[in-house]
Amino acid sequence: MNDHFRYRQDELYAEQVPLGLIARRFGTPCYVYSRAALESAFHEFDQALAAHEHLLCYAVKANPNLAILNLFARLGAGFDIVSGGELQRVLAAGGAAEKVVFSGVGKREDEMRQALEAGILCFNVESAAELDRLNQVAGGLGQIAPVSLRVNPDVDAKTHPYISTGLKQSKFGVAYSEALALYRKAAGMAHLRVTGIDCHIGSQLTEVGPFIAAAEKVLALVDRLAAEGIALEHFDFGGGLGICYDDETPPSIAEYARALLHALSGRSEKLIVEPGRVLVGNAGVLLTRVEYLKQGEEKNFAIVDAAMNDLMRPALYEAYHQILPVQLAHPLQPVPGGRGGERDKQSLIFEVVGPVCESGDFLGHARELGVVAGDVLAVMSAGAYGMSMSSNYNTRPRAAEVMVDGEQTHLIRERETLEQLYATEKIIT
Ligand code: LLP
Repeated sequence: MNDHFRYRQDELYAEQVPLGLIARRFGTPCYVYSRAALESAFHEFDQALAAHEHLLCYAVKANPNLAILNLFARLGAGFDIVSGGELQRVLAAGGAAEKVVFSGVGKREDEMRQALEAGILCFNVESAAELDRLNQVAGGLGQIAPVSLRVNPDVDAKTHPYISTGLKQSKFGVAYSEALALYRKAAGMAHLRVTGIDCHIGSQLTEVGPFIAAAEKVLALVDRLAAEGIALEHFDFGGGLGICYDDETPPSIAEYARALLHALSGRSEKLIVEPGRVLVGNAGVLLTRVEYLKQGEEKNFAIVDAAMNDLMRPALYEAYHQILPVQLAHPLQPVPGGRGGERDKQSLIFEVVGPVCESGDFLGHARELGVVAGDVLAVMSAGAYGMSMSSNYNTRPRAAEVMVDGEQTHLIRERETLEQLYATEKIIT
């Protein structure tokens, strides 16, 4: 919980709006974001880096809703994209192409063309083959592509293996030992202009150490490049700063920024960062309603109307998300023979599971909750990699998204309809 999602008496609020009201008005499952939480995270990051020229490129993949991109664009954000689709979203949301960096190991030719035509800030190139392709595509358009090499610094991010990207065995970036040679090659290519260097070692990091180890390796390379006459304009240290889901103690934005600026001291090149989760993760919750309570032989189940298709993180990474009742149960006042209603809400240990036909479809294990069927639960810290990783598995329409702003609520994405799900499918004769 944070300042923007908190209980008032017995009811959980987003800013000034009771979450129960949102669940009734827009239905469940429903993602709810706090504008104030989004903006304050952005300001905090921006201010923490104020002492050095910088650009905050929000990692669109964390949550690409146009309303969120637009809020950040209005605050001056740049964007880190990994597809032509994300670029189109950024532009549709009013983002500036000249503040966009394009990451990813598999950029297609058409995506390169799209980004060149839009006039993005930089391509974060991840292989020798990609350099060749970009040089060719840029040449075909009569353009010069701005490039940075994503260097793999071989640093252990000490996070979940699926979201750790900076080790030698990872598919990301160019090997540290080959980077120098590739820079020389890039510097000699007719349709490329070397402008920067970047790295991204993983996500949900809870220590500053690996960030600094990576930055130092990158900066050592920068010095060797400078000695060869390859001068860079910017250093991009990626994203990855973790948030608190449970009992993690990630560094604060201020601590992280201080450490990065310290590593950069004495240098004037522009700093780029690509934060995703830390800007949006704790600014969103997923509302879900309890459909049934079921007593198994060994466990109690709270079967809710959100599932792994809505929030994949628990199923995919065994990620923990706090689950809170939107309406707190009143202290138990047992009524002999009583049934239903508040007074029978006993706190029990539940497996919180969805309706999808997979045993991996859970939102939380062994959660103590005082709930009855019909109650609404809030799955906390769901603003990052929640909606953006959702799917239509089991032909489930994707959830609605709502932005709270003070006392106001705005529907920022309608719940999908079933017709939309198969509108482009064809029956053959
Ligand atoms: N830059 C690049 C090149 C990235 O690959 C990523 C995330 C970011 C920036 C933003 O990282 P952040 O600040 O959000 O940690 N689905 C996973 C997370 C995958 C992260 C992928 N790359 C999850 O739900 O935990």
